[in-house]
Amino acid sequence: MINIHLIAAARPNFMKVAPLYHELKKTDWANPMLVHTGQHYDHNMSDAILQDLKVPAPDFHLGVGSGSHAEQTGNVMIAYEKICLEHRPDWIVVVGDVNSTAACAMVGAKLWIPVVHLEAGLRSRDRSMPEEINRLVTDAIADVLWTPSADGDENLLAEGVSADKIDRIGNIMIDSFEMLHETIEASNSREDLGLSRGDYAMVTLHRPSNVDAAESLEPIVDALLGAARDLPVVFVAHPRTIKGLERFGLKDRLAAGKNIKLLEPLPYVQFMNLVVGARLVITDSGGLQEETTYLGIPCLTLRENTERPITVTMGTNKLVNAGTLDENLQAILTGDWPAGARPPLWDGKTAERAVAALKRRSES
Ligand code: UD1
Repeated sequence: MINIHLIAAARPNFMKVAPLYHELKKTDWANPMLVHTGQHYDHNMSDAILQDLKVPAPDFHLGVGSGSHAEQTGNVMIAYEKICLEHRPDWIVVVGDVNSTAACAMVGAKLWIPVVHLEAGLRSRDRSMPEEINRLVTDAIADVLWTPSADGDENLLAEGVSADKIDRIGNIMIDSFEMLHETIEASNSREDLGLSRGDYAMVTLHRPSNVDAAESLEPIVDALLGAARDLPVVFVAHPRTIKGLERFGLKDRLAAGKNIKLLEPLPYVQFMNLVVGARLVITDSGGLQEETTYLGIPCLTLRENTERPITVTMGTNKLVNAGTLDENLQAILTGDWPAGARPPLWDGKTAERAVAALKRRSES
């Protein structure tokens, strides 16, 4: 049996490691071990999601918590290096683009432990985003690059990555969704909030560029209050966003909006029950851009760029800002919106392809 460390750190990572964990568990040659760096630690941002995804408690918990970028990255490196020196794995799989992704990839590369990057090759070309730095660093040093779509391969090849390091496996978030599809449909979270299917807008925001300054957050809050004149708005707010709303005195203004429900983070199943029933989604999340494209739900992304362009060219996503939100919302409500299509390999079978690819590589 070979030992494979799966690194999970922050909310969006859990949906990416879970399908791989389950698929590796089915084999007789691989022993998946979950390493939780502790970047996210609130129950609904971490343990509740792992429970929803039927993943057991992590084998290693680094308990790193919050901090500046350097603190968080450095603390993960220090803690994970100790684990690797004591329990050297045969492979390390890092996912996504959070600080822990780059940190653990660096630890592996320097200890000559082969590193796989799941969700490789995505590029926003916006280096003011911490995630873009994490993607560039991770892809430059990983030994194997698992991409979700053809644009990922193209970006890597253009940066000089050799083609034999790349395996296009598809979008693993869809595997998590499909694994829990029935449970998600059966969840009561929509009913509990008094919402009917297809009749409300779902909002999430957490990017520093949107929520860390009053100049960016205030116009967004006003645009959301405007949207709430047309349909109920459910805003599931990240801790960073709640802090911003409080700091800039915007929380009361938002909460006073008649048609707006401001909620704390939710576990995966309850959250996705709200997503599948939404008329539209307003977000700055990477994962939601993908999930809405898969589900054919219109998505307005409050960003200037996206590292997931296929959701715009093929799917239901459009980049907007606070000033253009309303006109796009009206277009959706009048039915003037592309139906979109599901990108190739976003089919719920990505973990199977990943495990087959890893088997080939570990045998060669
Ligand atoms: C991180 C990732 C981002 C990802 C997002 C998903 C990086 C650079 N950013 O951003 O790519 O899209 O996760 O949510 O890795 N906090 C809590 N409870 C928690 C976790 C955080 O209250 O469980 C608070 C922290 O105190 C901190 C803030 O939320 O003030 C931000 O947390 P942090 O992990 O630094 O980054 P995110 O904004 O969550």
